[in-house]
Amino acid sequence: MKKLTVRLIVTMATMITSMMAFPALAEVTEADLAKGKMLSFERKKGNCLACHIVAEGALPGNAAPPLIAMKARFPDKKVLREQIYDARIKNSNTLMPPFGAHEILTEKELDLVLEYIYSL
Ligand code: HEC
Repeated sequence: MKKLTVRLIVTMATMITSMMAFPALAEVTEADLAKGKMLSFERKKGNCLACHIVAEGALPGNAAPPLIAMKARFPDKKVLREQIYDARIKNSNTLMPPFGAHEILTEKELDLVLEYIYSL
């Protein structure tokens, strides 16, 4: 009984910590995806198309890997968020701007971009 309680507390603590570390949207709506797409494509915001190919985007760049099959390539959404938040974590010489760390996107905008990109 005691063991079960401890396990329950540990599980809940883990859940709460992971929620705090990863404040993604609770439920993703079509409107969120549309906003995320707009933010991803907008030159003054994500401007992802300057470097990446996205199926729905016109005039994409090809300096970076195409953003396709994201769920298969990023089973852990946190890893994808980290890449968009600060690409320097993975590659200190990256061309990709650190959208979160340099506040090019707000936390909320970053989550919208994340959900859109994750839907690709
Ligand atoms: C100035 C160019 C540039 C822009 C703008 C850019 N990226 Fe990148 N991105 C890169 C490069 C280059 C890489 C390849 C890894 C590296 O060099 O760090 C990359 C890698 C990635 C990866 C990992 C891809 C993989 O297959 O592992 C993701 C995901 C990503 N970018 C998402 C985005 C999103 C989302 C945006 C827009 C919000 C964006 N990038 C904007 C240059 C860019």
